[in-house]
Amino acid sequence: MCGIVGYIGMREASGVLLQGLQRLEYRGYDSAGIAVLAGDGVRCDVLGGMCEEKKKSEGGRLRVVKQKGNVASLAEAIVRSNGHISGATLGIGHTRWATHGDPSDRNAHPHMNASGDIALIHNGIIENHAALRVELGNHGYSFTSDTDSEVLVHLIDHLWKQIPFLDFESAVRQALSIIDGAYGICVISSREPETMIVARKGSPLVIGIGDGEYFVASDAAPLVEYTRQVVYLEDDELAVVKRDGYTVKSIDNIEQEKALTELDFELGEIEKGGYEHFMLKEIFEQPEVMQDVMRGRVRLEEGRIQLGGIADHLDELRAAKRIVICACGTSWHAGLIGEYLIEEFANIPVEVDYASEFRYRNPIIGPGDVMLVISQSGETADTLAALQLAREKGATVIGICNVVGSTIARQTDFGIYTHAGPEIGVASTKAFSAQVIVLTMLALALSKDRTMSDDEVIEALQSLNDLPDQVSRILEHSEQILEIAEHYKDARNFLYLGRGYNFPVALEGALKLKEISYIHAEGYPAAEMKHGPIALIDEEMPVVVIATKTKDETYKKVLSNIQEVRSRKGRVIAIATEGDEEIEALAEHVIYVPEGAQFIMPLLTVIPLQLLSYYIAKMRKCDVDRPRNLAKSVTVE
Ligand code: AGP
Repeated sequence: MCGIVGYIGMREASGVLLQGLQRLEYRGYDSAGIAVLAGDGVRCDVLGGMCEEKKKSEGGRLRVVKQKGNVASLAEAIVRSNGHISGATLGIGHTRWATHGDPSDRNAHPHMNASGDIALIHNGIIENHAALRVELGNHGYSFTSDTDSEVLVHLIDHLWKQIPFLDFESAVRQALSIIDGAYGICVISSREPETMIVARKGSPLVIGIGDGEYFVASDAAPLVEYTRQVVYLEDDELAVVKRDGYTVKSIDNIEQEKALTELDFELGEIEKGGYEHFMLKEIFEQPEVMQDVMRGRVRLEEGRIQLGGIADHLDELRAAKRIVICACGTSWHAGLIGEYLIEEFANIPVEVDYASEFRYRNPIIGPGDVMLVISQSGETADTLAALQLAREKGATVIGICNVVGSTIARQTDFGIYTHAGPEIGVASTKAFSAQVIVLTMLALALSKDRTMSDDEVIEALQSLNDLPDQVSRILEHSEQILEIAEHYKDARNFLYLGRGYNFPVALEGALKLKEISYIHAEGYPAAEMKHGPIALIDEEMPVVVIATKTKDETYKKVLSNIQEVRSRKGRVIAIATEGDEEIEALAEHVIYVPEGAQFIMPLLTVIPLQLLSYYIAKMRKCDVDRPRNLAKSVTVE
């Protein structure tokens, strides 16, 4: 799950590539590099500026700067290289998330062939790299890195040299037909100085169509400041991009008609907007995002939900024998809440599976079953594989995705976009809330004329409508949560407890803290505590208990759980309903959220947990937007 960019045009390539890598850094940031074709006869006057002169290229030399570390340090290295890679208008760039070979200068991309006239960047995993390494070694090739990716540049070189009259494109195509695994690649060569070849299988790639210039990237973020016209590559497609145009072909050389897509987000949406971190910005964006998710879909005056993406399939969904929800990480937590919602509102049996487990067990699924996959990025490899398996077995597959045009969105039968806008912070926040709102709207749409009366539906729609204001009210108390965080920033462990709809929120709160502050944290159903985790509790253990008031008995049960924690000297932070004074006597700290229907609680109680983890991570000086060892979209298994 690396970030790759490519450029061919009239601008100074290194400027465009660096900017692009900065925008893709959330995909991986342990090493980075750029390769350009310098001296290609097309000179540039200023960094990133348009060129004043254009002449048919007589070749040029590939120049590379790459190293361990993030994109900012690569930019410094480029400055120190005293124009080593300036004056070029064709180039490729990569920011890495290591899979094979540790983060280091030599494992950084781009990888070159021995004669230094081919440069390649790769996002994905080449599964048969070990065998190819041996084979190429037998042909005298030696390797400078431990990566799987490097075999591909040598394989292209080998085929290009071995097979007479083979051109650059065919050499790349041949090589791709030999490797197994996933790839998004960009390749350039000084032997074909006017050409950039890109291809994808399992890893995302999009081409930006400019005026006499072309951009390539893992997603649209680096492109929006230059063009809004893009072409998404499908699996097993290869594109040859030249200064005067591009062609897309299938891997077996059949030309493809590709539709142009207009990007629907602004540059501003992928900038920090005055916040210190993208994560904080995205937490505070949630009231607006919630309105965007519901706009035109929650029709209170008509007492109904309108979801265009599934409107023609509602009867099929209502008739489903069962709905199997598959996802990973935070999206899986949203799926758990979806189970509660769909079973309560629509009375359809729901199962929730980790996509990575679903794909390798012998899942019983088939015609009449519906698989619902949830993914913010729409590129998560395990979720993609789970949906492909379900399709093979004849199930209907619907998706809930945030990234428009993403692979999962395109491979499902139909689905619903969350419209949360670009989510840059690796720790998902606003996308989670948007997923839960979409699941609520889906459950209500499925319930109509089936299990809920019109009045009940209208009451539920009203609860949704009240959400943005309620969340704004919680965010107004962020200072209080900052003060509470101060008390717990040095904790080594945390326990999160919740019941019913709040159980998945306990899991989500624990995940947020883990992934950005590196504190070990576990979420548990509150009643499960006494079956083991209670052994962990002592005066060192902060226990976050989601204890919002409920109409049923569970609130009282949660209060008993709090008593059990206190009797072991655990430090209780309670998330409670405004006006609940009883709980103040039981907890060391109380964070209040507005009163609301039980099904709406996850969308209120998760907000303080997002902020708590953010402030603790910030106090511990963690890189909140680029947490160690993580990446925004996990495109490898
Ligand atoms: C959440 O904060 C993490 N970034 C991670 O668990 C994420 O939810 C998971 O990788 C799934 O990603 P997706 O929603 O893009 O499929």
